[in-house]
Amino acid sequence: MNVHLQKAFSGRGDKVVFVEEGKFQKEGVSTQEFEGKKLSSLLWREPWGRILYVGIGGPPFRRDTLRKAAGLGVKSLLKIGARDITLDFSNYPDFLPHVDAAVEGAMLGSYRFEEFKEEKAKRKNNLEELRVVTGEIADSLLQDIEKAVRQAQEIAHAVNYVRAIGNMPANYITPETLSQKAVELAGKRKALSVEVFDKERLEKEGFGGLTSVGKGSANEPRLIVLDYRGEGCNSRPVLVVGKAITFDSGGISIKPGEHMDEMKYDKMGGCAVLGIVDAVSRLGLPLRLVGIIAAAENMPGGHAYRPGDILRTYGGKTVEVLNTDAEGRIVLADALAYGIEKFNPGLVFDLATLTGACIVAIGKQKAGLFSNREDIAEFLWKKSEDYGDPLWPLPLGEEFDEAITSDVAVVKNVGGREGGACTAASFLRKWVGDVPWVHLDIAGPAWITKEYPYLEKGATGFGVRLICRYLMKRLEEKSL
Ligand code: BES
Ligand code: MN
Ligand code: ZN
Repeated sequence: MNVHLQKAFSGRGDKVVFVEEGKFQKEGVSTQEFEGKKLSSLLWREPWGRILYVGIGGPPFRRDTLRKAAGLGVKSLLKIGARDITLDFSNYPDFLPHVDAAVEGAMLGSYRFEEFKEEKAKRKNNLEELRVVTGEIADSLLQDIEKAVRQAQEIAHAVNYVRAIGNMPANYITPETLSQKAVELAGKRKALSVEVFDKERLEKEGFGGLTSVGKGSANEPRLIVLDYRGEGCNSRPVLVVGKAITFDSGGISIKPGEHMDEMKYDKMGGCAVLGIVDAVSRLGLPLRLVGIIAAAENMPGGHAYRPGDILRTYGGKTVEVLNTDAEGRIVLADALAYGIEKFNPGLVFDLATLTGACIVAIGKQKAGLFSNREDIAEFLWKKSEDYGDPLWPLPLGEEFDEAITSDVAVVKNVGGREGGACTAASFLRKWVGDVPWVHLDIAGPAWITKEYPYLEKGATGFGVRLICRYLMKRLEEKSL
């Protein structure tokens, strides 16, 4: 797909026009038919093509509204055969700083998962040209917009890459095939190297968490380490760790059958790590970024780990397993301990579809945000909606540490009914210590079962935009 910035409409293809609530005027259309309410739309035919009017509601206008409106417009026009789509900003010069968000929404709105459909059921048209009409503006402003658009394109590309892997079911994506994706990615980027630890090496080097969780499955676990060295980076690395349970049946503490299919998405934290490394390397950001993916399949079976087992994680801390379905924290413990010991990072992120309790607490749209640094958490919380991946802060605290204290080991892997997302986060903190750390529980937003303005059902790629934007911001401030 190509993006063109134009000062005037070229008269080709179909067009999305944004409409403020109550400001729509068109001969033959009553205000009752179209009021411009947020994310409502009206399709209009002209001799040269179609116009989709998309309502954006009233002021104040948020960046995310433009992203959704543009994404909705493009997604809707694609459904009715469009290939060449123009986003018209000529009546809205105030929105020009948000053109990149609109392009991002448009690109995310154009992705579809159709690999397994019959040829005749696949959509014939693709988004080939995306045009942005800016109106008459200074060339210097046009250049700024061009740069922002290029960045948005790279990031959106990475998000769609994550969605494509995420939507693949567990008979295609196993720890091994996921590691092949990482190897493939590293082969494409000069500054990126990859190392894959297989089961034997994991056993030998003391990764007792990841190997235990993976024991019940014929698809053996992997630890995938991606190392990106951007030009001119000399500060401590940023470490991003992701949970990639390629299928979470619950293991011996098996889950109920309903919706169990959705547990193919239990790898989305790890997939997001791939996407973050992809975007950062595409953008050539000047930093050292280490991405670690803890990949395993959680299955019951004659070799599976059991309730009551006591495991020794990387570095030696022991875990009493009381529920084999609380496996995410166990594989993350190994990955965090290894990443911190080996790379001495100045900042650590982890992303994981960690707890159903997080969805109960804050719903499906936002990820739970935990951190041992209040300033970082506050910044991320406030900016997350603008970045496209909304977060909501949740607490760590001694009460949660107490809840996971074990009689026989350092910790137990479940802490009871209360504050399930918080006890899981407290568990992780034991392996992090004092390094600045942010944990995102993406159980809710990692995939969607209802269509979203700019996303179809399925994997969302949550976290990629947030973390890339945050790193770009820190680099801009020279604080990385
Ligand atoms: N992957 C699940 C969490 C999950 C559940 C994410 C539903 C998204 C939707 C995780 O491994 C899990 O099973 N967690 C348990 C923990 C419990 C046993 C303490 C949960 O949330 O029920
Ligand atoms: Mn589980
Ligand atoms: Zn899980």
